[in-house]
Amino acid sequence: MQDLNQNSKLKTDILIVGSGISGLFFAMKTAKKRPDLSIVIMTKENAQNTNTQLAQGGIAVVTDYIKDSFEQHIKDTLQSGDGLCDLEIVDMVVKQAPERLKELVEIGTSFDKNEKGEWNLGLEGGHSQHRILHHKDSSGLEIEKKLLKIIKELPNIELLENHMVLDISTEIKKNKTICTGAFFYHKKRNTIKYIRTRTIMLCTGGCGQLFENTTNPKIATGDGIAMAARTGATISDMEYIQFHPTALAAGEKNPMFLISEAVRGFGAHIVNEDGKRFLFKYDARAELATRDVVSNAINRELQSSSKNHVYLDCRHLDRNAFYNQFPVITAHCNQLGIKPEKDLIPIVPAAHYQCGGIKVDKNGTTTVQNLYAVGECARTGLHGKNRLASNSLLEALVFAHQASENVVKTISKFKFSSKILVPKFPKLPQLNDYYAFDILKKELQQLVTAFYTSENRNADLVSEQIKALNDSALSLIKPHEITIPFIEFSNMLTTSLIIIMQCKAEKKEMCKG
Ligand code: SIN
Repeated sequence: MQDLNQNSKLKTDILIVGSGISGLFFAMKTAKKRPDLSIVIMTKENAQNTNTQLAQGGIAVVTDYIKDSFEQHIKDTLQSGDGLCDLEIVDMVVKQAPERLKELVEIGTSFDKNEKGEWNLGLEGGHSQHRILHHKDSSGLEIEKKLLKIIKELPNIELLENHMVLDISTEIKKNKTICTGAFFYHKKRNTIKYIRTRTIMLCTGGCGQLFENTTNPKIATGDGIAMAARTGATISDMEYIQFHPTALAAGEKNPMFLISEAVRGFGAHIVNEDGKRFLFKYDARAELATRDVVSNAINRELQSSSKNHVYLDCRHLDRNAFYNQFPVITAHCNQLGIKPEKDLIPIVPAAHYQCGGIKVDKNGTTTVQNLYAVGECARTGLHGKNRLASNSLLEALVFAHQASENVVKTISKFKFSSKILVPKFPKLPQLNDYYAFDILKKELQQLVTAFYTSENRNADLVSEQIKALNDSALSLIKPHEITIPFIEFSNMLTTSLIIIMQCKAEKKEMCKG
């Protein structure tokens, strides 16, 4: 294996950016099918620091063909997406789910079973049936660990932690934009290098960090969206950011701890300051309505009561069964002095999932040649306006599979570019001023949140304010110099502007209608 830090002419057949479920599942499948291909995975922090490992709920898969059916899962997904899903994609994802699940189980991923040895299927908002496979309340972590273990055993995969991909290089040939490689930053050595590739797979997750309240980890800064946009790839539906209704309104604020949707599926109620349930006023499904409905209802309740949060009431539930199914949530609440069997749990909606992203077809291919996108950073057509709970890990598996099949068939057409690019800034200043950028990030989060949650959005005004933040960011770096906090913040600004412009375009569409 080449040493990516020694060799000045670095190359790899496939570069995967991100180490969540999409990148790892794609890498595993591709490496097994084509041991002749070299695969590099770069991830900007440690490999396990992903949105995947935070996913509590699980994977939506039809496994009980008596009570449930593909048709019902398809119908629930379409209904949640509010008319904006792509039916062909929904059909493909739902019908492929059992095969992808089988592959996860084959590598040792464990999902809970009942005393009869059948899957212990959970229920979540918007699902008409119990169909969520889960590993207690840490399903994502279980999957992440099993995939990482396999990845480390495959000789043609090199997993590079603390390597942040900064930009993708492209060439234009016969009027087509082709991606040829990437510049990356090695955090520990403080250097920037260039690597040539035949294929890039973006699996960079979402952009929850653009909002004041989010369940997403600090790394979710929209890097993949911004990089893809710079190559000219089409980005769509970024106006559809999903707010999860039940982020814990106590303890850490960024990210906020998530109380899984599965808790409501288990029978928890949402109540106001007076201890009264109020969701029936908004939707007959009450706690089991989709996330957009429940979050909007909570926001309206908060506006009319001038309170900061509502509550999740678990006091009527079987204590032992609850503790057994939700050990991580219980332990976290207990640490903060909240005992779910006797206390109300304070909750608020928080930015949770980016339903749009880099536009891809059914094989994960973007509008730029040999650039793929899979997982939350991709807009596949599965989610429409609002993703159905526990469809995200499923989407990641199905599209990683599709992309892998496509790459192994087509990669022979893609040759390495002969151009070896040289980074403008091979060595970065030692002192990265994170503190000043943290202040700018907070300002950006306030702007984006206020814009997104306002009834009278003024896209032009906010765009101007964002441009002013860009000027402030530029004033923090010396001429002819870049820093990593600057690059990450620039990605956040780019992604924010895309969201704002797409919200503005959507408003126009609605006016036309
Ligand atoms: C949850 O457990 O509520 C989050 C899982 C998801 O986003 O689907």
